[in-house]
Amino acid sequence: MTTSPAISPFDQALAAFQAEFGRSPVALSRAPGRVNVIGEHVDYNDGFVLPAALTLEACLAFAPRQDDRVRVHAVSYRETAEFRLADLVGKGCRRWIDYVAGPAWALQERGHALQGLDAALASNVPVASGLSSSAAVEVAALQAFHRLANLEMTGVEMARAAQRAENEYVGVSCGIMDQFISVLGRSRHVLLIDCRSLAYTLVSVPASVSLVIADTTASRALAGSAYNARVAECSAGLAQLRQTWPEMVSWRDAQWDQVTGPRSPLTGKPQMRARHVVSEIARTQEAAALLKRGDVADVGRLMHESHVSLRDDYEVSSPALDSMVDIMMSHAACLGARLTGAGFGGCAVALVKAGAEAEVMETIQERFPRQTALQPQVYASQIGDGARITGL
Ligand code: GLA
Repeated sequence: MTTSPAISPFDQALAAFQAEFGRSPVALSRAPGRVNVIGEHVDYNDGFVLPAALTLEACLAFAPRQDDRVRVHAVSYRETAEFRLADLVGKGCRRWIDYVAGPAWALQERGHALQGLDAALASNVPVASGLSSSAAVEVAALQAFHRLANLEMTGVEMARAAQRAENEYVGVSCGIMDQFISVLGRSRHVLLIDCRSLAYTLVSVPASVSLVIADTTASRALAGSAYNARVAECSAGLAQLRQTWPEMVSWRDAQWDQVTGPRSPLTGKPQMRARHVVSEIARTQEAAALLKRGDVADVGRLMHESHVSLRDDYEVSSPALDSMVDIMMSHAACLGARLTGAGFGGCAVALVKAGAEAEVMETIQERFPRQTALQPQVYASQIGDGARITGL
């Protein structure tokens, strides 16, 4: 079983800052990773998502500089990288520093004047496992620049700027979910986000259930390109539907019958992708309503339906993820399980009866390596707060 690392990212960032720069930081900017309970691959289709912020987080200890240099020491890479704010041109260099430079670029694009800084970065959000380690770093960085420049931006504006950094600077066509929940999450709550209007509602998670997250540790090497390919497939499918229904702005507007009925122009893969998106948007709204009523058994059922749809219609699961979900579902205390995040490897999440977390985790530890020859990382996840600054 994986336990929290002995040294928190907060303490690591603090110590690394002092060691690297020989002075104290003024504050730490903290932003969490996330787990998505349901609503997968629908944020870039104007749909609804239902993620929770985790207590796993990225921490950036920082202090201002008098010039426009930004120097960042990354604890996990044992490396310091730097750039000048005036040199940012909107294209990353495909290295970890992009997740700090991208948010600075996005804020400058909004017309804000930023100040240089020294920073040390540490994170315990596992990388490339579907828990949004990159959004956590982007939001932590954005928040540090935001604080030093005394900007006035709403949480939604901050999330949009961090998403723009990922889309344009890093070059991944992601939706708004990860950055949004990292900014606006709340302890013990999931957040229902309408990715069209960006309206959001906190929904409290009943004390009778909790989430278990298990990382298959299977490589997600293709995730970036396959993700962008799915986004492109959605645009192409929508263009086909719009030939018949020009008023359709996104797949959010598509009815089930327009996707599967006799008048539908969609067949084959485009129809499969559309089936997933349209059904997942409906499932997510339903799951949020059920959770509000405390009807957790049906939320679990919808989570598993979501997995089947992602596996069969959207084709973003993997043999390891399917095994993980089957093992989770085989436990009597598991109400539902599914892959979480972009898929193609990474993590699955289970909704389990409170008190049974350790048993479910043991079952995974015991059976998953036998079935797959992979060693899973398992987390009894606590739902944490969104981004915040801790002053010193
Ligand atoms: C990644 C993206 C999100 C979302 C999920 C899939 O995490 O960053 O915007 O599309 O995949 O739901």
